[in-house]
Amino acid sequence: MTDDATGAPHDTHFYEPGSGTGLPHSPFNAIIAPRPIGWISSQSAEGVPNVAPFSFFNAFNYEPPIIGFASNGPKDTLANAETTGEFCWNLVTDGLAPAMNSTSAAVPPDVDEFAVAGLTPGASRIVGAPHVAESPVVFECRTTQVVPLQTLTGTGTETRVVFGEVVGVHIARRLLVDGIYQTALAKPVLRAGGPGDYFGLDPGHKFTMQRPDGPVATT
Ligand SMILES: Cc1cc2nc3c(=O)[nH]c(=O)nc-3n(C[C@H](O)[C@H](O)[C@H](O)COP(=O)(O)O)c2cc1C
Repeated sequence: MTDDATGAPHDTHFYEPGSGTGLPHSPFNAIIAPRPIGWISSQSAEGVPNVAPFSFFNAFNYEPPIIGFASNGPKDTLANAETTGEFCWNLVTDGLAPAMNSTSAAVPPDVDEFAVAGLTPGASRIVGAPHVAESPVVFECRTTQVVPLQTLTGTGTETRVVFGEVVGVHIARRLLVDGIYQTALAKPVLRAGGPGDYFGLDPGHKFTMQRPDGPVATT
């Protein structure tokens, strides 16, 4: 490999994750960064509201829209999405960052995490799961698949990836300018590496590039 600017060979640190990183902290989630946050609200079969952030999260299909998040081990959100077949995704904006953070606390499944974080549960239109009323963008979702991850040797992991089809979308009208959604205007909070690093979005860093095969709006 060579350096972008000079063409000189990189002085590269190489590691095989199975044998350790050779670094003070694993750089993995600082490299795959910044990541959008899946702030997932759900409710238990008994109707207890729940909300928690997942940064191993993304969109996976355009039509129909399908999103997914990884639960690293058993979590209330995973149980709720499996049991009820429903959840909501809520956009974390900069003003909501402290509330998002507080919803990552491990609390028993019978505790209403909206109340713990001082959030308002909004009644959803299609699904039974509540959404975060303070969030300006919400996807109502129905669970489509729960996929257990396995390693190269076929050993099971504790991680389950929950996929859901988006069946209802709420967007604060102030984020639509001439009908076009303004990503930066929403001031999304993005997860970086380390125990507590995040990025905001600077609209000045936006640039536009056309694809060789013509415009594609979907991926
Ligand atoms: C920004 C952020 C991102 C997180 N991402 C994940 C994730 O991708 N997967 C995961 O299992 N836990 C993740 N967590 C931890 C969960 O939010 C935490 O375990 C939470 O208590 C789960 O809540 P629940 O049991 O109500 O589902 C994250 C926490 C924070 C603050």
